[in-house]
Amino acid sequence: MGRIAIIAGTGFRALNIPDAAQPIEASTPFGQPSGPILRWMNLGHEVLFLARHGLDGSVPPHKVNYRANLWAIHQAQAQYVLAVNTVGGIASDAEPGMLVIPDQLVDYTWGRPQTFFDGDKDTLTHIEFTLPYCESFRQRLIKLAGDLKLQFLASGTHAVTQGPRLETAAEINRLKRDGCDLVGMTGMPEAALARELELSYACCAVVVNRAAGTGDVGIYAEIDQYLDQGMDQVSRLVSGFLEAF
Ligand code: HPA
Repeated sequence: MGRIAIIAGTGFRALNIPDAAQPIEASTPFGQPSGPILRWMNLGHEVLFLARHGLDGSVPPHKVNYRANLWAIHQAQAQYVLAVNTVGGIASDAEPGMLVIPDQLVDYTWGRPQTFFDGDKDTLTHIEFTLPYCESFRQRLIKLAGDLKLQFLASGTHAVTQGPRLETAAEINRLKRDGCDLVGMTGMPEAALARELELSYACCAVVVNRAAGTGDVGIYAEIDQYLDQGMDQVSRLVSGFLEAF
């Protein structure tokens, strides 16, 4: 199996990145990634990590340079990319504190550079995106989450909104009618760019709140309450994955 990279956003510090991880400052034809790629060895395998919003968390979802991030990870020779995204739960069974390994997505973002094929017709490729996540990688995560007895859902449709504001209740109703089960702000164009680079990309979504209008407590109170619990589960999944890798 090739080298693995992890891209994570809010709460990434729970992932126990070793202090000895080496920072690689990458530059790409698409500009600067969100921060350095951190690299360390785990049981003889190289692991790469990138903080999607920067190590200081200052890059908002609509300003993330997704192209530079994915390009830098590809340049660092990752083959597998595990994306960790915090989300709100729309489906009634996507409860705060749980993980979801989505199998589908709907993209509601706009104005984000979303392709590497930007005007050079000799290399233009219309990627197939029927299944937006790598199915074999997803199945490995599902098996592992089951073995670790994590609280998780093995499928779900991931709505990706523009942010940085949260949604209105009417917007969430619309997403529900569209068949979406969870909502976050950072799943796209990351997944499509990963596919353009032929990376094996899967998402582990961490439900940290009920989506707007579907719960009865304030969204930020819930995020405070459930982020640690959710990230603790991600941390166990990532450690298990690296052990099995
Ligand atoms: N909506 C969008 N993005 C999110 C949410 C949400 O409710 N929770 C965490 N990220």
